[in-house]
Amino acid sequence: MSAHVVHTAADLRAVEGRPRAVVMTMGALHDGHAELIREARRRVGPDGAVIVTVFVNPTQFAAGEDFDAYPRTLESDFAVASEAGADVVFAPTAVEVYGESGGFGEQSVTIDPGPLADILEGAARPGHFRGVLTVVAKLLGMTAPQSALFGEKDYQQLTLVRRMVDDLSMPVEVIGVPTVREPDGLALSSRNRYLSADERQVAAVIPRALDAAAARMTPQDAIASGLEVLATEPSIELDYLVVTDPQLGPAPLEGQARILIAARVGTTRLLDNRPARMRP
Ligand code: PAJ
Repeated sequence: MSAHVVHTAADLRAVEGRPRAVVMTMGALHDGHAELIREARRRVGPDGAVIVTVFVNPTQFAAGEDFDAYPRTLESDFAVASEAGADVVFAPTAVEVYGESGGFGEQSVTIDPGPLADILEGAARPGHFRGVLTVVAKLLGMTAPQSALFGEKDYQQLTLVRRMVDDLSMPVEVIGVPTVREPDGLALSSRNRYLSADERQVAAVIPRALDAAAARMTPQDAIASGLEVLATEPSIELDYLVVTDPQLGPAPLEGQARILIAARVGTTRLLDNRPARMRP
């Protein structure tokens, strides 16, 4: 099946009236994105419409981050999206999304992401989740889907999108999709292409550390085991390794937990997380 590309919200009218699922991306599509698109197709069925948005959102990048360098590969994105079952690829300009300013204007109304946006990624990237939630809200408005799919790979983002949709009573079902990984466990990411061959080897310690942590029974032991594995690759720079509850609250002593990590390999910052179960 071949999708078609549209650049304006007005052109999305072609799929009005059919059940719709949206997969939002910043492009540089890989098999993790493709899995979200395949899952969207499974959800809406053959007669539904799967919309993939491709937009490198300027408001979620801080000055000095990789907004300008972020890979832009619309042609191959289109091929990946079509192959995975998309009907429409929506690739708007910043002016189409934000108006003349191409970003937050002085008078803009934006989404306040609340205190969950101040920890973990939010602590490392102030303002990031305001930009993410605002663009997600805008893209939901433009695509008006019944369901929206997000990867567990960006667990804090998924958690905040769920909260926004709940707290603001947005009429959409948020579906989380498990992380797609390379054979050695490294989570697929558009930023993996920044890694040199040596760095790529080093990066594989990240999922190994998560697995070691998840094999332990208490949050303290989990962190200790994770750190021990990370220490086998001294060039990796850890930003955080934490155990939380599934909503990113304090680590539970018993029951479902989430282990999250952010680490720098060379100049590339990588994220990963996995579920775990704590036992007394
Ligand atoms: P991007 O990083 O392109 O990711 C788009 C979606 O793909 C997100 O929901 C992300 O969690 C998911 N994803 C990425 N890698 C994955 C993997 N290995 N397995 C499963 N899913 C994966 O996240 C964003 O873009 C932006 O912040 C966005 C939500 C589009 C707002 O601008």
